Amino acid sequence: MSVKQEIEALRTELEQHNYNYYVLSAPTISDQEFDEKMRRLQRLEQEHPELYDPASPTQRVGSDLTNNFEKIEHRYPMLSLANTYSENDVQAFYDSVSRALQESFEIVAELKYDGTSISLTYERGILTQAVTRGDGTRGDNVTANVRTIRSIPLKLRGDDVPDLVEIRGEILLPWAEFDRLNKERAAQEEPLFANPRNAASGTIKQKNPAEVATRHLDAYLYYVLGENLPYGTHYENLEAARKWGLKISDNIRVCRNFEEIMEFIHSWDAARHNLPVATDGIVLKVNSLRQQQQLGMTAKNPRWAIAYKFQAERALTTLNSVSFQVGRTGAVTPVANLAPVLLAGTTVKRASLHNADIIESLDLHIGDKVYVEKGGEIIPKIVGVDVSARGANLGEKVKFIDRCPVCGTPLVRSEGEAAHYCPNESGCPPQLMGGIEHFVTRKAMNINVGPETIEDFFHAGLIKNSADLYELKITDLTHREGWGETSAQKLLKSLRDSVNVPFERVLFALGIRYVGETVAKKLAYAFGSMDSIARATQAELTAVPEIGERIAQSVVDYFKDERNRELIARLREKGLRMEIDDEALSGRTEKLKGLTIVISGTFTKHSREEYKNMIEMNGGKNVGSISKKTNYLLAGDSMGPAKLEKATQLGVKIINEEEFLAMLSADE
Ligand code: IVH
Repeated sequence: MSVKQEIEALRTELEQHNYNYYVLSAPTISDQEFDEKMRRLQRLEQEHPELYDPASPTQRVGSDLTNNFEKIEHRYPMLSLANTYSENDVQAFYDSVSRALQESFEIVAELKYDGTSISLTYERGILTQAVTRGDGTRGDNVTANVRTIRSIPLKLRGDDVPDLVEIRGEILLPWAEFDRLNKERAAQEEPLFANPRNAASGTIKQKNPAEVATRHLDAYLYYVLGENLPYGTHYENLEAARKWGLKISDNIRVCRNFEEIMEFIHSWDAARHNLPVATDGIVLKVNSLRQQQQLGMTAKNPRWAIAYKFQAERALTTLNSVSFQVGRTGAVTPVANLAPVLLAGTTVKRASLHNADIIESLDLHIGDKVYVEKGGEIIPKIVGVDVSARGANLGEKVKFIDRCPVCGTPLVRSEGEAAHYCPNESGCPPQLMGGIEHFVTRKAMNINVGPETIEDFFHAGLIKNSADLYELKITDLTHREGWGETSAQKLLKSLRDSVNVPFERVLFALGIRYVGETVAKKLAYAFGSMDSIARATQAELTAVPEIGERIAQSVVDYFKDERNRELIARLREKGLRMEIDDEALSGRTEKLKGLTIVISGTFTKHSREEYKNMIEMNGGKNVGSISKKTNYLLAGDSMGPAKLEKATQLGVKIINEEEFLAMLSADE
């Protein structure tokens, strides 16, 4: 067998295993065997870059490059459905369809999946684009992230796949993954996701596809669109899509009358809780595409479909008091303390009140009878007050506080933001602890110490900031309850090891507002050292690609603060890296120094994101639109005619992939 044949055989085999595992939930080999085959394919592909294929199963792993999201216009607008909670409305929908059609019709009943919607484009069977709903007309191009979802085929199978087909569906984070992710976030003291829907939409907008890959998203597809669909009914097209390898729910019923619809609705009201993913209702669609067309749409929704939503579980109880908590970031959250009440199987004593506006709009008074609801959320929320239950002596009106309940500093609320913050970052205990907890996280300094220990050390006066960690002595630790010689040595070793953490992670560990992992990397590469970043002006900072005013201002403010400079001086004394090391810099060149390059169209050898990264790694600047200052237009396939015309007009040199790659492989 030639290498080419082996690669192809492995690709087909691995994709079949992916399908068995993720779509059919019936794997036929062990994870270990799968990993071995995947590693073999990765090695062969690395050795033979000429056999690159964007649809190879190896391309799901997600590269480490960052992507910003290009806006893409939907070929067909992404409409939402008319929603109802009432069975009467379902009857009204059924009657109106019946009146309008004046002939027999079928209704397809499906589950309404509670995730984030996605539109997939397959061209000649290859996944070429995945776009979020956006505003319904234009959405975010999240293809790189969607490629990491194993149940979404990169390539469709079968010989009846239309040349161009769009498939819509819902991206979901299964309950088990949601719980795992939140546990992990709790351990890292990162904010929890309120429900799987938020987790799914947050994940699909992540900048780093490799991170998305770790989250194990899933997807159910429920709508096939295109000019040359194989069948005349929605149901048959879904069945065709299932054969093409897409994950289509098994829980679909073609109903021939209203009673069958109601049976479907009632059968799922309770049973849906046993599904591995979140659902919040039932979607009903007219089956025949001809009839759908005949019914048409209103300004916002199709007339041929409706969503029936299940009632969230709700209980009535008494509001005893409201307390205010200060989080690790300084955000102040109001929490309602309730008379215990049973709701969806658990006893609820507390509920989130979110922010000042919500308190105000509820017009809450202590002693009020309040409705508590548990939607998809883990933390129940107060959704209303039973005003009729108020007696003559109304309790005190609930007001948001104006000072930090922990340190007493007057709270601030930025323009356009819902939350109140305590601005005393370097003096307010929960924020100081939060800063240390961030400092030690895996992606920052990776120091082996949990939030409870930090809290304990903080309250014992052993540490006030991250530099104090490096002053800890073995006896400080062994004197604390629950600590022995071994665990103390382990922590000290982990602290010693952390001095080898690369500079970009040290920068991230400082917890400068808006300087996340990616921004820290960019700043570290652009400036090379802590001192240069500290000296940089707002203008020098914003000159770095993707560093905007908000980030730059935050960096300048951080280094202006004497206390932060002192902290850094102490960390430097302890041996932490304050400069980028040569290894990280190798691979970087100045081959494109001073050149501004616009990327447009689609490419075959590398993704857009990869080209963007190559430009930056080689000292060039990638910008979005063509101007007089543009040096090159890196043009791929299906580039818009407007861009081409503008480039020609301004005399911008147009190069293709090969020419660009040749520029990089040339000797400096
Ligand atoms: S069909 C024009 N089917 O619910 C019809 N939508 O407002 C397009 N959803 O935006 C949607 N499960 O994100 C359809 N089985 C299902 C669905 C479903 C969940 C979501 C979808 C849509 C929203 C309805």
